[in-house]
Amino acid sequence: MGWEPVKLNDGHVMPTIAFGTWKIGNGQSPIDQVTQALDVGFTHVDTAQAYRNEVEAGKALAKVDRSKVFVTTKYSGLDGLDIDTSIRNSLKNLGTDYVDLYLIHHPRLAKPDIPTAWARMEALKKAGLARSIGVSNFEVADLAILLASAKVKPVANQILLHPYVYIRQLPLLAYCAKHDIVVEGYSGLIPITQYPDGPVSGVIGAISARESVAPEVVLTAWSKAKGATVVTTSRKKERLEGYLKAGDLALTTSDLAKIDAAGAKGIDAVGPFSDDEKAMMRKVESGADLEAATAPAPISQGRSAELTMLTALSALSVFVYFGLMTAEMAGFKVPFWVSPFMLLSIVLDRKAKKIRAANPGL
Ligand SMILES: NC(=O)c1ccc[n+]([C@@H]2O[C@H](COP(=O)([O-])OP(=O)(O)OC[C@H]3O[C@@H](n4cnc5c(N)ncnc54)[C@H](OP(=O)(O)O)[C@@H]3O)[C@@H](O)[C@H]2O)c1
Repeated sequence: MGWEPVKLNDGHVMPTIAFGTWKIGNGQSPIDQVTQALDVGFTHVDTAQAYRNEVEAGKALAKVDRSKVFVTTKYSGLDGLDIDTSIRNSLKNLGTDYVDLYLIHHPRLAKPDIPTAWARMEALKKAGLARSIGVSNFEVADLAILLASAKVKPVANQILLHPYVYIRQLPLLAYCAKHDIVVEGYSGLIPITQYPDGPVSGVIGAISARESVAPEVVLTAWSKAKGATVVTTSRKKERLEGYLKAGDLALTTSDLAKIDAAGAKGIDAVGPFSDDEKAMMRKVESGADLEAATAPAPISQGRSAELTMLTALSALSVFVYFGLMTAEMAGFKVPFWVSPFMLLSIVLDRKAKKIRAANPGL
């Protein structure tokens, strides 16, 4: 039990609970907070260009043996800088010559497109600036684009994970598992920090009373039980110790089922899960083929036939129009109803385009 390190798909090893530096500010306080986390026993620090406190994290890291701490930072597209310049700036800020893990913070930052941005990440790994490379907030579709051209797979995808978003994230969790990509869950305590009176609060409260642990310990154990590594934070020493203890809290199948059922009721921010989502959760949890479970609906035969007919009619109207125009130029008298053929061709063509846009496979 505990927080056993995980072996990544590139052979490196990552501690499975990280102390994050988002929103912990600047100046002496974040230096003290990172130092406290390291003292308490955290061996993974998660920061980002966008958190604007890599310098402070670096000052805390300077006090310990660099090789004993796993450092993650992220390309956040700050100041419009490219990936290469950004990681070099981050390394300078952190006072290190490599990071253990470098993530693209969000797919929209992968410019000009995901394959090109990922090729730059692969070059950083090759140059030794990042030992491992990964992504954050990537959906299944983003990962599919990335994997189609990747020479090196991302080792991790850092995503939002708590009971109220669990069902929506399930296809992503299953897709990552299938492709040996570790899921790092962040903001797992949202049910406590933002929705203290939400549907899961009662269940979490009951388990926390039974186990004599704080509610954040139960939620942290829930993330672990879902196969995710955890990225969390706290200014308080006792909370940090609680997060670490959560590694030893084995929630029962019944605990997990109760938390999931309460999470499925949703909260205003994400709403209740639809019947389709719940059905998909059952499919994924029962081990159904994920690609099949989440693939877009197959294009109906009818739609395909309609498109063929529209394309043929459009071509026929153009043919009739130009045929009759040629005849007119050759001196034949062409009837007045010729010109609508061109218009008809345009209308049919537009309809065909709409069908193609809605059915990319056609
Ligand atoms: N990749 C991304 O896009 C992304 C996005 C968001 C976050 N992250 C990473 O994940 C890290 C953690 O994010 P997060 O802060 O949203 O995570 P979180 O683990 O959900 O929340 C941590 C916060 O919960 C508070 N907390 C803990 N127990 C509590 C309780 N019983 N009652 C009230 N408050 C309680 C702590 O406050 P105290 O300090 O008072 O203990 C702390 O500020 C970030 O620092 C960042 O590294 C990544």
